[in-house]
Amino acid sequence: MAQERDLVVEVEGELISKPYVEITLNLLARFGIAVRREGWQRFTIPQSSAYRSPGRVHVEGDASSASYFVALGAIAAVDAPVRIEGVGTDSIQGDIRFVEAAQAMGAEVASGPGYLEVRRGRWPLQAIDLDCNHIPDAAMTLAVMALFAQGTTRLTNIASWRVKETDRIAAMATELRKLGATVEEGADFIAVTPPATLTPAAIHTYDDHRVAMCFSLAAFGGVPVRILDPKCVGKTFPDYFEALFDLVRTPVEAVPVIAVDGPTASGKGTLASAVAKALGYHFLDSGAVYRATALVAMRTGVAPDDETALARIAATLPLHFLHGDAHLGEENVADALRAEEVGAMASKVSARPAVREALRQLQLSFRRIPGLVADGRDMGTVIFPGAALKVFLTASAATRAERRYKQLISKGIPANISTLRAELEARDERDRNRSVAPLKPAEDALLLDNSELTVEASMDVVLKAWNQRRPFG
Ligand code: DC
Repeated sequence: MAQERDLVVEVEGELISKPYVEITLNLLARFGIAVRREGWQRFTIPQSSAYRSPGRVHVEGDASSASYFVALGAIAAVDAPVRIEGVGTDSIQGDIRFVEAAQAMGAEVASGPGYLEVRRGRWPLQAIDLDCNHIPDAAMTLAVMALFAQGTTRLTNIASWRVKETDRIAAMATELRKLGATVEEGADFIAVTPPATLTPAAIHTYDDHRVAMCFSLAAFGGVPVRILDPKCVGKTFPDYFEALFDLVRTPVEAVPVIAVDGPTASGKGTLASAVAKALGYHFLDSGAVYRATALVAMRTGVAPDDETALARIAATLPLHFLHGDAHLGEENVADALRAEEVGAMASKVSARPAVREALRQLQLSFRRIPGLVADGRDMGTVIFPGAALKVFLTASAATRAERRYKQLISKGIPANISTLRAELEARDERDRNRSVAPLKPAEDALLLDNSELTVEASMDVVLKAWNQRRPFG
């Protein structure tokens, strides 16, 4: 960095987030740049400043990201503390002072160089009245902790919240009220009083990573929350939810499932994977497990009526999914599974009870937090009968034949539309009339004919139905 003149940074008004500036100045000094400063108003980088290697530099874990786990400890660590590594109370980062605020609310904290251990101390938490100018970002989490505090928590000097990813004062107030809190907001403060009983709520996140992260903690105080657009955490903490879920044990029955069943080429795969993506849920294409069994049977010359041999294949199927593609061992079989002959064989193979039984556990294992969207024939009737939402997707045979035709032609595979229609009708017939787990709508399924609907329109219907499901509706 060689300048012809001094570089001067002038601050208009009061500088916010001073601790971040302090870290920058510290690091610049360690890299050989001595910034002259007049208070917090004016900073001068002298002409001909030059970077020089500081030798070894230890980069701490991010204290702002750690703050969510500090709060988690304060709210939920009853049996054992939450241990956070990579940042301790000796941190040079401003947001480490969130720890003091959490302690004031009741957290019990043990710490040393590079680690924190936090557990629940006082419960309910203690309301606080705090000037948060030094920890504006982390303070949003205090507003959520306030839901579990006795009394009114006032967070002041937070005018900067209004000009962040979204107007955070307005956003926090709106979402806290959904949970039942009484919230007073001003130009530069927020005051939160919890209700006697919190109400489950779907939390709008305003494309603001911190709104998503801090509200997820409310669930640990015992009120169900649904975080909408959870992927917005990608801005600073892409695997936030994975890290959070690593710390908790969720009974499998509590993991929500959306089942999308329907006949072949009804568009259920496209719809189900789009819904899974929108919700940040896992996705199971259960047809692929039958197709994979069929593919192995075809390759090894096992006949479609040799139930014992088929069941053995199913029970030892080395099937796994990588970036959405099915693999058998090392081999990517995504395209091979889509072949028409494999689909037809899958339909025959899947009529065998022993095959279905052997593939059951594999399908159940996809039910992991935060949730699952599963498509197939018997997702809502047999595999996940307790699914929170069941959709039965249909389209006319003509529409489905045309879709399949276009799909094949676009891949350069020759096809004939009337043969395709005859084949898919034969396949539906077999899937519908088999004795085990036949294709049929669950009694409580939402019936959706998408012959005239775009994928987006079908998705809208499903997401609306999902948003109305209790306890969030
Ligand atoms: O959905 P798909 O076309 O990939 O399914 C291929 C065959 O697998 C289908 O004809 C019937 C069978 N199948 C099933 O019996 N149960 C499921 N849950 C999914 C598919």
